[in-house]
Amino acid sequence: MKANQERIEKHIKALSKFTATPGQGTTRMTYSAQDLQARNYIKEQMKEYGLQVREDGLGNIFGKLEGENKDAPSVIVGSHFDSVPNGGDYDGPAGVVAGLEVAALFQENQIKPTYPLEVIAMIEEEGSRFGGGLMGSRGIVGYLQKEEIAQIKDKNEVSVPDAMRMIDLDPSLEVKRDPETIKAFLEMHIEQGPILEEEQISVGVVESIVGLTQLDVTITGKAGHAGTTPMNRRSDALVAAANIISKLPQIAIEEGEGTVTTVGKHEVFPNGANVIPDKVVFSVDIRSSKEMHVKNVIKKVKDLIVSYETDDIQTTVEQPLYMQPKELNQEIRSILKASCERLDISFLTMHSGAGHDAMVLSDITDVGLIFVPSKDGLSHCPEEWTAIPDLANGVEVLYETALKLTEES
Ligand code: GLV
Ligand code: MN
Ligand code: MN
Repeated sequence: MKANQERIEKHIKALSKFTATPGQGTTRMTYSAQDLQARNYIKEQMKEYGLQVREDGLGNIFGKLEGENKDAPSVIVGSHFDSVPNGGDYDGPAGVVAGLEVAALFQENQIKPTYPLEVIAMIEEEGSRFGGGLMGSRGIVGYLQKEEIAQIKDKNEVSVPDAMRMIDLDPSLEVKRDPETIKAFLEMHIEQGPILEEEQISVGVVESIVGLTQLDVTITGKAGHAGTTPMNRRSDALVAAANIISKLPQIAIEEGEGTVTTVGKHEVFPNGANVIPDKVVFSVDIRSSKEMHVKNVIKKVKDLIVSYETDDIQTTVEQPLYMQPKELNQEIRSILKASCERLDISFLTMHSGAGHDAMVLSDITDVGLIFVPSKDGLSHCPEEWTAIPDLANGVEVLYETALKLTEES
């Protein structure tokens, strides 16, 4: 079954307009005005394709096509629709659009599945507003309890429930989903790396996903005048932070086997050119395909941070996210590969260095994740780009796989 490339392109273009930084990539923070615009668009399309639409207590969007068997668990297809700051048009939306297109193909072919088909569009996968990341899927799985969610705040101290209410979402709704209501989850995502393009292969069938953690580090020192405080009387939080940060790459390199560390977020207080900084807050993202390496690096980073404590320099480390590396379901991987073969679409088995909602949902259901090529391997930047025929190939593989999973007992 051929996917409709015009429809796919229309959706990608429409969603790309919902950005807070036009001309400078997609910036779509969770529960922002742009979230609301994208949300309304996705809900409209879901209705157009005959799906019953609902949102949960985190604002994850579900569109359901009932199965012949009303009580049967659903095959869910989709991804997230938030973005990083100044990101691209495809990280997340490509998978949501894939879900929409699978639903459109079910409708066009008048398929009445035995098991329900659900399209999902999840919130806050990137953690760009509330930190940590994978928030939508962690809520669905039950890793974030209601009380915990109520405590999560953005950098302006706006809580998740308050931010939700600002766009008329209802935080009192249930978030955790009974695993018995899910048969499988399928996600299409852009590769975000160069392999598929270089090898001229259409689809990556993902076998495993990297283990990852995020640390939020606060260094507190003492503010003072930049001109009158002698160098030996300073407790400069930024100098301590800079020393720590400069040592992180070496820790990752020494750990080896592809272990990586990144400091992507950094704030200085009070942020005046002639004031000695009294507080610095930064993130440390640590990833490795082996959990042992993630754990080793966490310990080394924490020890390093503590080693900079003095009477006037204090440190705290919080850990808003920890995910073990995941191996994805073998049977679904086989069905995805068989679908590629049947459709004559070239494929490769791959490992994912990026985190995905699929890794969270794999704790409660059988999960399949496929990649489609990324131009020049670029992602998390405005240049992120995937050709529409490549997206269509991925959609066709998902459609075939969803057909099989919604029919089979
Ligand atoms: C999501 O893009 C992640 O890998 O952090
Ligand atoms: Mn991303
Ligand atoms: Mn993503």
